[in-house]
Amino acid sequence: MITTNFDYESCIRASERVSWKLDEVFPANLALDFSRRFLPNAITGIESLDFLGDKERLTLNHISGNAYLYLFYFVEEYIVASVVQHANAEMFGDPMALRALLRFAEEEVKHQQLFLRFKDAFARDFGFPCGVVPNPQAVAEIILSKAPMAVALTTLHLELVTQQHYVEGYREGDGALDPFFASLLKNHWLEESQHAKIDALELQKLAAVATPEQIETAVGDYLAILEAFAGLLGAQASLDVTTLEEAVGKKYTEEQRQAITASQTRAYRNTFIILGIQNPMFLKYLEQFSSTGPGRVTSQIGALS
Ligand SMILES: [Fe+2]
Ligand SMILES: [Fe+2]
Repeated sequence: MITTNFDYESCIRASERVSWKLDEVFPANLALDFSRRFLPNAITGIESLDFLGDKERLTLNHISGNAYLYLFYFVEEYIVASVVQHANAEMFGDPMALRALLRFAEEEVKHQQLFLRFKDAFARDFGFPCGVVPNPQAVAEIILSKAPMAVALTTLHLELVTQQHYVEGYREGDGALDPFFASLLKNHWLEESQHAKIDALELQKLAAVATPEQIETAVGDYLAILEAFAGLLGAQASLDVTTLEEAVGKKYTEEQRQAITASQTRAYRNTFIILGIQNPMFLKYLEQFSSTGPGRVTSQIGALS
């Protein structure tokens, strides 16, 4: 049984306190500044690619930053659909839960618009086409076909990692990071922290009526979603190498291409998958309704890295 020290009402209050407007966080037509890193070194792994010069590393950091925000847009496609389903289940039910879920859905669509605004600005100011993995709607449909508890677990996992990413970025705050990019992470995290709590409350409702078999299936489905996501992140890493070559105007050797792809894949999988599996809050909630769950998911860390 999941226990929490918050409820839908406290989530609404916190959401009202921290809520922001898209045009204030990201004014339309704002020019991006490419003089500083977008992502902290702690989550890119680019520093270990010692055959890249400083300019190439910075450019790869920018490419990774663009992909990072786009990947949030990408997964939020299924999250919006899932949260609307949860809201629909509360129609004529608990008005507080309904309101919390509707705010959650509205904020998540706003985040998608924020990330698309960044993607458009990047395409305009970077000067080179930047490949990103296609078909978020098709992937959303596949995820939504899984057990509802597995979908809710995946969402909880993703909301919790945004908090970790911001804390990592903030800790590094030595002026080397682009303050505008850092502000996007901060504003995203401010609203995601309520989303993670609402995910826990929704999981609590699902877990309360689930059989042990349904819970086992949900943990398996959650791992299947992560496996598919790991494949997608590998595909994004391959696109990054091509973009980097275009942007710096040089061709890398096959060995170098493979090294960059492997490093990008490892970094994305660590950022989006491994940090979530290892997140103490995630494991705490999982353990409360599945005593074998934490062991099952952490045993897959090697396979998903
Ligand atoms: Fe979001
Ligand atoms: Fe969210």
